[in-house]
Amino acid sequence: MGTTIEKLFTEMPAEFAPVLSKLRNWDKWPLFYHYVQTLNRDALYTSRIHGYAHIERVILYGGLIALHEGCNEEDIKLLLTSCSYHDIGRINDMVDDSHGARSAEKVPSLVDFTGEDLAIIQASIKAHSVDDSLIDKIIKDFNISDTKRAQLIAKMLKDADALDRVRVNALDPSYLRFEYSRQYIDFSVALCKYYASLNE
Ligand SMILES: [Fe+2]
Ligand SMILES: [Fe+2]
Repeated sequence: MGTTIEKLFTEMPAEFAPVLSKLRNWDKWPLFYHYVQTLNRDALYTSRIHGYAHIERVILYGGLIALHEGCNEEDIKLLLTSCSYHDIGRINDMVDDSHGARSAEKVPSLVDFTGEDLAIIQASIKAHSVDDSLIDKIIKDFNISDTKRAQLIAKMLKDADALDRVRVNALDPSYLRFEYSRQYIDFSVALCKYYASLNE
């Protein structure tokens, strides 16, 4: 039995088809779908708010954002890995600025990345749960030399995560960092209802 996100791409429900087909027709689709299929669900926080359903949707939004940004394969790998494991350090579903730092500490044991690639994943994950004004300091603390690349991955993760805030009625569109993210707000509302209809 496939996961909900696999079911979505297999069945392509009419209301989602225009957006999902963007990903299906993307030349990076095989890489994107690899991340969908290899998500380590056992590593995820178990929760109705920050559990696997949230993570599946954040991976989907990460793919859309990478598509719009024209990312290369290496950046897509960092972004989708960050999307997959950004909330593994959660210990509750409350407002918690430090869960990103805990997720960043745990992520090396789950992934094959090393060196600067791993540092960018960790910095992005750490930065996702704090204010944007702290991104540069976090990148510096990880001794990352390609700061522009790290800033981009961190901001893409933040928008992918933010698009799923509609599930708790907490998305302020003015906080989205990329203009094109805004066109997916209606989609994200509908997608949350779809998951809820499946009791996920
Ligand atoms: Fe988070
Ligand atoms: Fe999240």
